[in-house]
Amino acid sequence: MDIIHTPSYEALSQEAASYIAKQVRTNPDIVLGLATGSTPTGMYKHLLEDHIIHKTSYENVTTFNLDEYIGLKKTDPNSYYTFMRKHLFQHINIKKDKIYIPDGLAGNLATECENYEENLKKNGPVDIQVLGLGENGHIGFNEPGTSFHSRTHIVELTESTRTANARFFPGFDDVPTHAITMGIASIMSAKEIILLVAGKNKAKAFEQLLYGEVSESFPASVLKKHPCVKIIADTSVLEESSIIA
Ligand code: F6R
Repeated sequence: MDIIHTPSYEALSQEAASYIAKQVRTNPDIVLGLATGSTPTGMYKHLLEDHIIHKTSYENVTTFNLDEYIGLKKTDPNSYYTFMRKHLFQHINIKKDKIYIPDGLAGNLATECENYEENLKKNGPVDIQVLGLGENGHIGFNEPGTSFHSRTHIVELTESTRTANARFFPGFDDVPTHAITMGIASIMSAKEIILLVAGKNKAKAFEQLLYGEVSESFPASVLKKHPCVKIIADTSVLEESSIIA
């Protein structure tokens, strides 16, 4: 794993965005795997700036999002569909039919998972997969204990994940209990993975990722088995931990 330490969240966001924008310009029909949550919002802001300044085109880009809550309408302010629209898609020239986000309101959720995996196979592999890190080590919504062989599936969110995400909702009880997520094996199929780690609350998980063993009880540890992983971490993570940059 290649680790880049940045002096601030702003620098992390700039670093990630510059790298991705460059890859999009080099390979205009690139397939990107995208994450939601607080960590990548700065990166999306910089991608929008780059789109305006350097005219990086997304016309032939395909995107696959990691996950979506079950039970929220696309138009719900907290759906990941809305998140992606607001932070990226409505501002760039990406084609609607090249955007893939699991449908958390599909009539048959098991079929939705199978179709998502089919689409990944048909349009993939993902060239660059962006990930955030859960405080409990989750990647996507693959909670501790998820099989490393898992493909897109339905998950019950842990209390710790629902608590961590409650900040976006009116209250804890409004946070959906289930989600659809790409599985660990689906994520690992990407040619390259960029893991963004920001904020003091991620220090423990970051330490465990670096020094802990590879185990299904800490999903992110699987990344040590991937041949091409870049971790971009801001210094606030380091300040809280015993890691020396
Ligand atoms: C989001 C996702 C999650 C988040 C993780 C960190 O699509 O799959 O794994 O990346 O929960 O979330 P933040 O960035 O909000 O701390």
